[in-house]
Amino acid sequence: MAQDATGAAATNFTRGIGLHTKPVPLEPYRSASFFAAERDRVFARAWLMLARVEELPAPGDYVVKSIPTNGVSVILSHAKDGRIRGFYNSCSHRGSEVVAGPRGNAARFTCPYHSWTYANDGRLVGIPDEPSFFAVDKANCGLTPIATETWEGWIFVNLQRRPEVSLAMFLGPFAVHLAGLKYQAASTPVVLTADLDANWKVVMDAFVETYHIPVIHPKTIGTTFSSKMNPFARLLDARKLGIHQAVSMYGNPEYVANPDNRVEALAYSAAATGSVIAAATTEGARAFLEHPSVNPTGSGTWSMDVNHLFPHTHIDCGPGGFWTHQFWPTSPNTCRYEVRFYVPQAQNVYERFQQELYVGRVAEIVLEDLNNVARTQRGIDTGGKDFMQIQDSEIGIRHTMEQLMKWVDADTVAEAMA
Ligand code: FES
Ligand SMILES: [Fe+2]
Repeated sequence: MAQDATGAAATNFTRGIGLHTKPVPLEPYRSASFFAAERDRVFARAWLMLARVEELPAPGDYVVKSIPTNGVSVILSHAKDGRIRGFYNSCSHRGSEVVAGPRGNAARFTCPYHSWTYANDGRLVGIPDEPSFFAVDKANCGLTPIATETWEGWIFVNLQRRPEVSLAMFLGPFAVHLAGLKYQAASTPVVLTADLDANWKVVMDAFVETYHIPVIHPKTIGTTFSSKMNPFARLLDARKLGIHQAVSMYGNPEYVANPDNRVEALAYSAAATGSVIAAATTEGARAFLEHPSVNPTGSGTWSMDVNHLFPHTHIDCGPGGFWTHQFWPTSPNTCRYEVRFYVPQAQNVYERFQQELYVGRVAEIVLEDLNNVARTQRGIDTGGKDFMQIQDSEIGIRHTMEQLMKWVDADTVAEAMA
């Protein structure tokens, strides 16, 4: 549903999607009981994206990933039968973590405590001094599997021993929306991770709304995402994809680099990137940009899309490719944040220079957002306010809160997703 972000009248995404327009409660941003419910009823029941297949391309490759919300370390292992399996990183002997990670290639995993050994498909294959044990049932003492499924190169796990819904059912319309997207530079992310003093939703909200951009980012992307015609950076598009959602953001078509910024002028003078927030050239990103859900309204004033994969992942698409954000709750007022900017291998020194500037710029923008989150949390924690006033371009916040409330209340996943 594209709307004229620059018109005099306000956009009308919230009602168009069928969401209520009332104030949204703040208690879920500070409450210990709501955090526990998110941990036990959302993160312990939803499919959680953990990795891309490019992180473990060859048989024997493995990665160790963390689900900090639930205190779970996961081994993702690519065995020689080609399957990628997930296991709890816990030994059958006395429970120790088996693999330190973060990645490697091995046919076997040997526990560092007493050297019990597992094949990389999870089978227990070696117990030192086995005769001293009491008829260990080796066939049932492999690494404990975690439900693991892959969609379009994204690897998901589910902490339910028997997931109530398949990954395909969980993704629903989101899978249709991004089906066939050609993820470019998927092997070469630049990764930034931070433990932050803010509820995970405080951080996530900052990356799904554009209302703050002219205020928080005046010197970096203020005039990239807003203009005289659209001074409040109103959204171009918002759509509900079942429990997930996507929004498209406005880009100023008349953006001109600051003439005093010689480095930017040089970096973008010969690089046909189409935007100063692009890691690759427009030509290099052509196949990616042709996907119908990248700039889905075909707007000439588009900057980027945020595709929100419930509960806590963004797959963002921009003029030069994609990047991801993940927001992991760790307590009522702390979280772990990770952003991955996928930057192609430079073909020459000029591209390398342009990419270095890109990475420096996006890191600066992210830090502008992160500098604001602890202050926001402190304000919320005063208890002075019980509700947030949410406007139309902040629709993503409202939609996610509605979904979280359903998951927290619902006794079954099917009910949560209905
Ligand atoms: S805990 Fe792993 S071998 Fe003892
Ligand atoms: Fe921001």
